[in-house]
Amino acid sequence: MIIAIDGPAAAGKGTIAQRLATHYGLAYLDTGLLYRAVGWEMTKRGFDLDDAEAAGQVASSLDVESLADPVLRGHRAGERASRVAVHPQVRNALLKFQRDFASRPEGAVLDGRDIGTTICPNADIKIFVTATAEVRARRRTDELNAKGRTVAYPRILDEIRARDARDAGRVAAPLKPAVDAHLLDTTDKDIETAFRAAVDIIERAKPERE
Ligand code: CDP
Repeated sequence: MIIAIDGPAAAGKGTIAQRLATHYGLAYLDTGLLYRAVGWEMTKRGFDLDDAEAAGQVASSLDVESLADPVLRGHRAGERASRVAVHPQVRNALLKFQRDFASRPEGAVLDGRDIGTTICPNADIKIFVTATAEVRARRRTDELNAKGRTVAYPRILDEIRARDARDAGRVAAPLKPAVDAHLLDTTDKDIETAFRAAVDIIERAKPERE
């Protein structure tokens, strides 16, 4: 079973995807990490994030070991990721790795922006996780403050909106629900409720597939 989870920043897709993977005993790939690693490496090597050719080369030579670096989970890495994610050269270079991951015999859970539309258009289940920008910004602010970073909600809200616009407005694999995706709005749901709702969607869809 291939489960594709897409959605904007801080909608809860990472946590839902991870919990689904544990629940169904499947491997899990956070595809955002790939773009984060490319953005981070670009800056480390002194390249401009808008340099599509250089970004494509960095993406093609990405070292999978580097994905474990905790710095990639940070806020700055997310911003850099969304800058390099606009380049088709980067997206193409990362395509094979993601498809190979999804093609393991037992299946996999992948989360990102374009899993249901581009990476795994034949996924068994597609869930598009959303929440209002205000709620997502509140969650991200609380998450960062809990990590000891002092950030202001209005700034995070601006950044979330800018990232949504960049991710949805780009030409290459923009953020949008696949036509056959199930929508899961987590605005009024805590993580447990959102996870249960995702399991319900999958269980309800099972008879249709069998
Ligand atoms: O957790 P959060 O949504 O903030 O970040 P992420 O999922 O790690 O994604 C970071 C950025 O990478 C996004 O804003 C997208 O621009 C890009 N991305 C993408 O274009 N395609 C993917 N499949 C995953 C991430």
